[in-house]
Amino acid sequence: MQRGSACGKVILLGEHAVVYGVPAIVLGIDRGATALAVGPPTAAQSELTLGQTDRVTEDGASDVARAFAAILRACAVTRPVHVEVTTELPAGAGLGCSAALGVAIVRALDAWEGRPAATASDAAERAMAWEQVFHGNPSGIDATAAARGGCLLYQRMSGGMHLNEIALALPLTLAIGHSGVSSSTREMVDLVAKLKARNEENVTRSFEAIHSLVQNARLALEAGDHTGLGKLMDLNQVLLSGLMVSTEEIETMCRCAREEGALGAKLTGSGGGGCVVALIDGDPGRVVARWQKEGFRAFSTTVSSSVGTEERSRLP
Ligand code: PMV
Repeated sequence: MQRGSACGKVILLGEHAVVYGVPAIVLGIDRGATALAVGPPTAAQSELTLGQTDRVTEDGASDVARAFAAILRACAVTRPVHVEVTTELPAGAGLGCSAALGVAIVRALDAWEGRPAATASDAAERAMAWEQVFHGNPSGIDATAAARGGCLLYQRMSGGMHLNEIALALPLTLAIGHSGVSSSTREMVDLVAKLKARNEENVTRSFEAIHSLVQNARLALEAGDHTGLGKLMDLNQVLLSGLMVSTEEIETMCRCAREEGALGAKLTGSGGGGCVVALIDGDPGRVVARWQKEGFRAFSTTVSSSVGTEERSRLP
């Protein structure tokens, strides 16, 4: 049995603007996805099972089946395989569930083919074949975070990306809560595109403002200034609300987190539902308990990294 795994992610600042070339800050989290290449399939076609019940074959018509066929092609798989996937991440919640599954499958397929482990760039690039079926034209930030983990400054560029690993001065403690509503990244990205087409000047100004928040957030992360970072997250949330991607539940969750002492709180991912991330000084228990009391599922996590390298690589 050949195994591959990958992590989930939260975008700390810069979602949506990142689609238009603004850098964003993304963190790998310890919840993720696992894929097992368990052996040959029962029939001639490769098959994918998700959890106990869902099963697709590579010639199926569903999105998952088409994404599976695309990733088998991207990985140049030479013989039919049965892949089983599991994930601790909710789907459609902005925590990079599909990208984590894609990268985990790529890694399991490489092991199945007896190949050496792919570099993170290569695994992310091939996972994009899977991602594009679900998300249309994703920036690639999710697949990159799923393959690498840590804290990354990610910038989409024409024909590729620019990546910096951010060296965190201090570990980050985060509370992550689910609004209970799932949303489609593709629809939310389309919604922002339509808003931009109608109101080019205002949306461009919002993206410029998000750009400076991201630049300042990078400095705050490198300096360990979490109070400043929390304020930048709050400001990013205001700008995301202006892009019409926040919801009543998200606003309630951000308010509750701040009332319980969070340094900052904002939606993470595409919005329209999904998750809120709150930056915590000390014990995340208060924010998590408050969200749960209000009826939202929540957990906490810690992110640390110590690297400071820079990489340029191409994405499809
Ligand atoms: O897939 P989500 O919900 O984590 O959103 C990804 C972030 C966006 O900037 C909204 C889209 C993208 O492709 O970068």
